Amino acid sequence: MQPDITSFDEYQKQYQYSVENPEAFWAGIAEKFTWRKKWDEVLNWNFREPKVEWFKGGQLNITENVLDRHLEERGDQPAIIWEPNDPDESNIVLSYIELHIKVCQLANVLLRNGVTKGDRVCIYLPMVPELAIALLACARIGAIHSVVFGGFSAQALADRINDSGCKMLLTADASYRGAKTSPIKEIADEALTQTPTIEKVLVLRRTGTEVSMTEGRDLWWHDELNEVDSDNEAVTVDAEHPLFILYTSGSTGKPKGVVHTTGGYMVYTDYTFRNVFQYQQGEIYWCTADIGWITGHSYIVYGPLLAGATTLMFEGVPTYPDAGRYWEVIEKYGVNIFYTSPTAIRSLEAFGPEIPEKFEMKSLRVLGSVGEPINEEAWHWYDEHVGRKRCPIVDTWWQTENGGILISPLAGITPTKPGYAMLPLPGVQPVLVDNEGKIIEGNGVEGNLCLKFPWPGMFRTTWGDHERCRQNYFATYPNLYFTGDGCKRDKEGYYRIMGRVDDVINVSGHRFGTAEIENAIDEHPNVIESAVVGYPHDIKGQAIYAYVICEHHPENETQLIAEINQSVNKIIGPIARPEKIQVVTGLPKTRSGKIMRRILRKIAEGETGNLGDTSTLLDPEVVEEIKAGALKLK
Ligand code: WTA
Repeated sequence: MQPDITSFDEYQKQYQYSVENPEAFWAGIAEKFTWRKKWDEVLNWNFREPKVEWFKGGQLNITENVLDRHLEERGDQPAIIWEPNDPDESNIVLSYIELHIKVCQLANVLLRNGVTKGDRVCIYLPMVPELAIALLACARIGAIHSVVFGGFSAQALADRINDSGCKMLLTADASYRGAKTSPIKEIADEALTQTPTIEKVLVLRRTGTEVSMTEGRDLWWHDELNEVDSDNEAVTVDAEHPLFILYTSGSTGKPKGVVHTTGGYMVYTDYTFRNVFQYQQGEIYWCTADIGWITGHSYIVYGPLLAGATTLMFEGVPTYPDAGRYWEVIEKYGVNIFYTSPTAIRSLEAFGPEIPEKFEMKSLRVLGSVGEPINEEAWHWYDEHVGRKRCPIVDTWWQTENGGILISPLAGITPTKPGYAMLPLPGVQPVLVDNEGKIIEGNGVEGNLCLKFPWPGMFRTTWGDHERCRQNYFATYPNLYFTGDGCKRDKEGYYRIMGRVDDVINVSGHRFGTAEIENAIDEHPNVIESAVVGYPHDIKGQAIYAYVICEHHPENETQLIAEINQSVNKIIGPIARPEKIQVVTGLPKTRSGKIMRRILRKIAEGETGNLGDTSTLLDPEVVEEIKAGALKLK
């Protein structure tokens, strides 16, 4: 299936049309899918409650669009190419016909174990084909999947399972990541001691590691597959039936379960995939994200497969067995479109340009970037040493809540500028507002990035707490969806994302709320209070700096730091570990008791000279102490 837009002129026309006639625009795109029943109403919305419904009254099953629809025309074409962690292990290629069979079989396993439409299924798996199959098997029977990234701890897994009351857990014995293995069944077992809603656990054998199986609860994946056939009639669901929940961090409290529904998400991921990457039939597309994050959901699984593309899934890490692995995989399969993160680019840049230069990578046609702002240096390195200056770079800005890309160049069509996400996609209406919520018109301006009109792929609520969804995203600026990002619109009208303006820290493209990390640190018995901020980091983009107040001065600071790290590992996972921990006797607070993070951020950045106005502080002295301590840490 081809892109709809093939020239900049057409983009401009389509954009104009989509803003003037959003319903007609999206209905025209939605018509190309297989619906069991057509919708009664294209769009019903307000951002007050908020309430957003797309294609209401429509009925469908997304897997018929991902699989069945393609069988006749491209049944034998590879749908998924899987490259294992170890380059010496055999790869797996699944055609659309084979993928269809596997999804139907697993759907039958779920049904056989009592999972039905509307039930939640937690998926905690490594990057193996069964992970993609699991998402689709849930969707096939109308169950709602909730994927938890394999790097999260037992506690984080249990919290997510409990928040959405999952009935079944899909996991594996262990996982491979580079030279390491991770005992994910063991981690799951620990989580399962506190998850009363889980009735069954399906365990995939990946590494062959011995694991304990609980009688009556745990089932081997391969045994269950022996019990089913591959006939499965897809369940019909409403367009607004939840397709999945994905947990993400916000500026307050615990991670939220972002809820995406079926019809709109389908239309949006397919449309954006085809147009942003300008996917051409037969091309090999590779997104290096993990399916545990939204990028993997939308642009490894749903978007590419809806579009009938060949999507590559990689189990490993960019530096195993060496820092040439990505380039080797690109050569091995003749990858045409490569979509990765600035963190990955920067970490590979550190090994020098000689490594990618050993590979010709002639097949590459389009490069993509996602997850965090890309600095100009990394952009140029990507352009020169990977794309060899002949591949357009699409810097795609979007969020878990958005479902799909919102602001991005269309490959080879929209002009590009290093660090710029450039222009909104058709149907996307960004606005910049000042701190009072006033819309800033014109170009050459900067403000808080909001969206003033819904798009089909946007989330509908946060699981179990609609009020929290309203508060978090729709209450800061009335009638607008607030992204939490700061943004510049330059003189030519091109958008540049400046990073978060709220208390969210983006570490290597992973979102963490300061409150979430502080809670984990505060679990340490000697910690009374903590405050964390993000600061610029050469490879991770941002890293976490934690200031902690102890009840009694630690005898051994190194040990305290190790213990705090342990606490964060246990409650969230190693990915959330602070880069730096500083013991302090107080925190800069206002008279009303609010921590002035602005000051802590400046100190973490090493900008101790210019801290701005500190006159409203309760105890200005403490700032001097923190400054002195920070210098010692460097
Ligand atoms: C940031 C990932 C600059 C941004 C798809 C956003 C970006 C958050 C870009 C969402 C980009 C993502 N340029 N910043 N191209 N892409 N971000 O939910 O701060 O994991 O709010 O979704 O990542 O992260 P999330």
